[in-house]
Amino acid sequence: MTTPIRRAMLKGFVRSPDMPSTLTVAEPYLIQQDWNAYTSEQHAIWQELVGRRMPQLRQYACQEYLSGFVQIGLREDSIPNLADVNRRLGPLTGWNATPVSGFLPPDAFFEMLADRQFPTTTWLRDRESMEYTPEPDIFHDVLGHVPMHAHPVFADFLQQYGKTCARIMHDKDALERMGRLFWFTVEFGVIRQHGQIKLYGSGLISSHGESTHVIEGRPEIRDWNLEQVLNQTVNVSEMQPVLYAVESFDQIFEAAKEAEALLCR
Ligand SMILES: [Fe+2]
Repeated sequence: MTTPIRRAMLKGFVRSPDMPSTLTVAEPYLIQQDWNAYTSEQHAIWQELVGRRMPQLRQYACQEYLSGFVQIGLREDSIPNLADVNRRLGPLTGWNATPVSGFLPPDAFFEMLADRQFPTTTWLRDRESMEYTPEPDIFHDVLGHVPMHAHPVFADFLQQYGKTCARIMHDKDALERMGRLFWFTVEFGVIRQHGQIKLYGSGLISSHGESTHVIEGRPEIRDWNLEQVLNQTVNVSEMQPVLYAVESFDQIFEAAKEAEALLCR
């Protein structure tokens, strides 16, 4: 898609903070982020979390992630104000980091993705859980996910993913297979760039342990193969033994379209 066409399309996407929500299923889960309520200790935890991740990310995150980090104005010294992030992100791709109260049921989650809104938690882990939290917090959601939403092809892929899942809500088996596509891209995606494996999945970006596991070459890195991905079972409680590397983000956009053709029958 050419840039002028994309820009024209985005004019309809960019939201103002006063714009009423068009979401129906997800509406009860929407909240406001009370940015002024974060304490100086919480900002200090954020700073420590980001400070610990950046040396590894500067070396091993993909270029698109690092560009997105700058484009959406993330800072190392304070918890992101989502309104500020969205003022920068909206004009780029039409995506919005929308504050939600916690885990969403699948239909609400997919409704938001299909509308280019990323469900974003606002709570931050405490010092006892610096490496891992069972539920996503703002560190995982914003540092891990949102920078990639500034990339036009990834942005289109994620919306396409949400639309397809929203169509197959009735089909448990198809939904499980789509969950694996999410796992091996959005959460644990890697890409080959200049002969090296680079990270773009949020589960890798936001975790020192998971990233180190990949950087040290422990998982088997397979070439991207949609059929294998859809059939690859996942154990969420262990380090990943197998990952799938794409050559470009066009590949995951095409995969989402192929998955739709395969599963929406
Ligand atoms: Fe995530």
